[in-house]
Amino acid sequence: MPVSSVAQRPLPVLRSERTSIKWRRYAPDVLPLFVAEMDFELAPSIVDAVSNALRSGDTGYLDGPGDLAPVFADFAAREWGWRVDPERVHLATDVTVGLVEALRLIVPPAGARVVVTPPVYAPFFEMIGEVHGRAVEVPLVEASGWTLDLQGIERAFADGAEAMLLCNPQNPTGRCHSRQTLEALAELAARYDVAVLSDEVHAPLAHPGVVFTPFAPLAEAAGARSATVTSASKAWNLAALKCAWIVAADDRMAAVLTRLPEEAAARTSLLGLHAGLAALQSTEWRDATVRQIVANIDILRSELAEHAPRVRVVVPDAGYLVWLDLRDAGLGDDPAEVLREEGRVAFNSGPTFGTGGAGFVRVNVACEPSTIVEAVRRVAVVLDARPPLE
Ligand SMILES: Cc1ncc(COP(=O)(O)O)c(C=O)c1O
Repeated sequence: MPVSSVAQRPLPVLRSERTSIKWRRYAPDVLPLFVAEMDFELAPSIVDAVSNALRSGDTGYLDGPGDLAPVFADFAAREWGWRVDPERVHLATDVTVGLVEALRLIVPPAGARVVVTPPVYAPFFEMIGEVHGRAVEVPLVEASGWTLDLQGIERAFADGAEAMLLCNPQNPTGRCHSRQTLEALAELAARYDVAVLSDEVHAPLAHPGVVFTPFAPLAEAAGARSATVTSASKAWNLAALKCAWIVAADDRMAAVLTRLPEEAAARTSLLGLHAGLAALQSTEWRDATVRQIVANIDILRSELAEHAPRVRVVVPDAGYLVWLDLRDAGLGDDPAEVLREEGRVAFNSGPTFGTGGAGFVRVNVACEPSTIVEAVRRVAVVLDARPPLE
């Protein structure tokens, strides 16, 4: 059946049926627009694939990516013109675990310097801790639209960084780094022989008119070491179904990834793999979801403009997470905390994304439009109770 629009369930039904962190972390009167989970119903083909696997008792251990590798290669070629060698695809339970496992193989056992570009997906900092390394922060350049600071990155590379965690599209700004920027980054990575791990989990949700550029082909062309880690967990809302994949960009990284522990595949979920396979083959649902997300971002912008004009929106190029600037709102460095306590609406806290996050919140708009309208109403109530900053 063609998917022309994404199916929605009313908030009270979601609250009574769903039990993930989104629905259980805060009290029921707090409107949840924080963690990256969608309120939409899943793609019917994914529900069928997982249900069929359960019906057949297909619940064993995995021995490798199997069909997922060629199916992802087809997907990457169709979507982005990236020619993936299926032999270079390896399983990991999650994107985060894939990044950690790959990092372990490329940095020394302790003290590695790993470049990150905040504000950035907060668990990057934890991952670096897991490999006993140290994060070297090279903040994004807000003035030029949250772009990578190539000069700062070059300095960090020249200072002896061993690796870099790239987030493309960047979470929380939703920015797809330009081809030109990524080519320059690949050239720097090759020159200083720094391995770049690119987290591209939000890439399938690039908005209409936006060109997403995968890093791997550019890294390979430049002679840099790189691997991409991704999954269907964000774009098809399969978080914690435990199936992600690591793709080596070049021969050197391909050789390194053969040293991944054998257990990495066995720990990955076969049900997650069935879901991921169905996802990569059901782009109609994804397309309908992107249309809904873009419509929701428009609603967020117009509601804020009308009811809370002190809040500025960083319009994303991809995904359903929106970075909101509340530095003029008078709520201090961590507006999410104030809004949750006083407004009963939960967003992600800006400062957790590292340098540049103070005064910001991250909003998840993968929900019903009425939820966004209500969230803005709650923000406005809190802001209206405070005088504008001088
Ligand atoms: C940039 C980024 N990477 C990774 C993840 C998590 O992926 P996984 O659950 O597969 O570890 C998220 C989740 O929001 C994310 O935004």
